[in-house]
Amino acid sequence: MTTLKNDRFLRALLREPVDTTPVWMMRQAGRYLPEYRETRAKAGDFLSLCKNNDFACEVTLQPLRRYDLDAAILFSDILTVPDALGLGLYFEAGEGPKFHKTIRTEQDVASLPNFNAKSDLDYVMNAVSTIRSALGGQVPLIGFSGSPWTLATYMVEGGSSKDFRYTKQMMYAQPEVLHALLDRLAIAVIDYLNAQIDAGAQAVQIFDSWGGALAHREYIEFSLNYMQKIVAGLKREKDGRKVPVILFTKGGGQWLEPMVATGADAFGLDWTTPLNVARQTVNGRAALQGNLDPATLYGTPASIEKATKAMLDDAYAHGEKTGYVANLGHGITQWVDPANPKVFIDTVHEYSAKYL
Ligand code: CP3
Repeated sequence: MTTLKNDRFLRALLREPVDTTPVWMMRQAGRYLPEYRETRAKAGDFLSLCKNNDFACEVTLQPLRRYDLDAAILFSDILTVPDALGLGLYFEAGEGPKFHKTIRTEQDVASLPNFNAKSDLDYVMNAVSTIRSALGGQVPLIGFSGSPWTLATYMVEGGSSKDFRYTKQMMYAQPEVLHALLDRLAIAVIDYLNAQIDAGAQAVQIFDSWGGALAHREYIEFSLNYMQKIVAGLKREKDGRKVPVILFTKGGGQWLEPMVATGADAFGLDWTTPLNVARQTVNGRAALQGNLDPATLYGTPASIEKATKAMLDDAYAHGEKTGYVANLGHGITQWVDPANPKVFIDTVHEYSAKYL
């Protein structure tokens, strides 16, 4: 076992003392980096990039060479799970992800094949172990999955959606069918994340990208309850170290109270929630992660520095000493100038020390 040289990300998630605020960026490996586009061209396409462990490892490490990040995140996609369930994931140039098959009926749910993460997604586990050894203890490695609700929207709609017409139709007209699908997905996600932890992931994040599209009662019933089931089924310790779990519901800042009840270690917030208010709500019961508007990175070095400092002032407004990980409020976009994330990341490290 190589020792972890920088563990402030794990320590902050577990609300242990830190020397400075840890920071990473959702979607930190991606198209805004010319070296990513170059590796993707070598691989052929996005899915081939995910399926080749040397390429997946290379793109995971690319942002760490440019910036002083406190965590690496596995390069893969949340949609590998529905792909392994036989839906046939593909990407068309200029469009979002699509599936050859959709799930619309009770029969469709019943005919989903058995899922075993280690054998059906062995390329993901190979990527995790390759990246973990390439990191050599530099920073921890984050594994991830989509939430059952978010995965279900892609499976029912057959791709990305703005209004979730078919998924919401199923939710209101045939809730038992959606529950059966979510149940299958929760079991698959538990297996998938535990396999990533076995392969070397040192923390895990559940991306509930579309939880915020739900009404408040439906959020609890169709999204949060299944994430709670996952939290309860995860290995929370490996090789004598805790493996923190982060839930990120985009648009979910108003539901922090029920989220805390899931027992997850940390909650990700988007930019619509004031961090000082969120800290008061959570009141030391969990850590928080977020929440700079990713569009801030379209600004100037001076405007990025100013917005980052304001975010940190909010995060530590009540005299807290830990329990906070800086991040964007959602993924970095492909249009960001690669010079700009450095301003965000260095400002977090330099400015936050005064609070700790
Ligand atoms: O954070 C990282 O650097 C790790 C890699 C990662 C990707 N996708 C790579 C990717 C992670 C953590 C994801 C998660 C993901 N995938 C989510 C949840 C996070 C979120 O943004 O809400 C969702 C909803 C998806 C589904 C997905 N994959 C979409 C909607 C798209 C197309 C839209 C887009 O951003 O291009 C993808 C493709 C995808 N996944 C790309 C990358 C780098 C772009 C593909 C390319 O290189 O052309």
